[in-house]
Amino acid sequence: MAKDRNELLGHAEDNDGIQEYDNAMPDWWLGLFFFTIVWSVGYVGWFTFGGQSQTGWYEAEMAHAAEQWPQKQASFAMTPEAIAAGAELYGKNCVGCHLPDLSGSIGPNLTDDVWIHGGSPEEIMAVITNGVPAKGMITWGPILGPEKISHLAAFILSKKGTAAAAPAPGGAVAPEAVAPEAAPAEGAAPAGAAAPAGEAEGQRREREEEG
Ligand code: HEC
Repeated sequence: MAKDRNELLGHAEDNDGIQEYDNAMPDWWLGLFFFTIVWSVGYVGWFTFGGQSQTGWYEAEMAHAAEQWPQKQASFAMTPEAIAAGAELYGKNCVGCHLPDLSGSIGPNLTDDVWIHGGSPEEIMAVITNGVPAKGMITWGPILGPEKISHLAAFILSKKGTAAAAPAPGGAVAPEAVAPEAAPAEGAAPAGAAAPAGEAEGQRREREEEG
């Protein structure tokens, strides 16, 4: 302890009589302080020129997480089995709002070329999974799971063009038909959900598109 501490510095006359006390920082504190300065120089150099990037770290972490907890993303397949399974699910859960021929009432027409949320298999699966709660489309992900939803998307796409003359997207909403909390009607009539003619038509179009 070479330094004298806790002394009045004695220049009160320059400062309206206010005394200044010499309250020196402890050495350990100063040591830490200077260490942070030295550290920051090294850190800035390492971060800026060492090829570090927060987005890079983020992407690496996400990739690692995707590896560790793979998304149970059911793959989309336009097979007859998937379409048939989708037709049954559609009849049980969706006819109430989209009608048996998919022409739409509370929910929009699902057979035309007009899509609010996109018409690719991925986009259709996404909107079914996440729903559009604000507009009355139920979040089906937790209810049905990815596989059933991929079947539903196959069924919907198989019906492309089958109810073209039906209402515009958004659907004409008959006031008495609006039931915001209309739950999935378990066991609701699957009437017409898998009209054979429509299915054949859908598959033909599908082939045309692929070819
Ligand atoms: C309670 C009524 C209701 C039920 C039941 C319902 N939907 Fe919907 N659905 C809607 C509404 C309303 C919209 C329009 C959302 C919007 O405007 O963004 C919609 C939108 C959609 C869309 C997107 C259409 C587009 O143009 O992008 C798809 C696909 C869809 N529904 C599929 C289904 C399937 C499959 C089921 C059954 C599992 C189902 N819906 C059951 C009300 C419903």
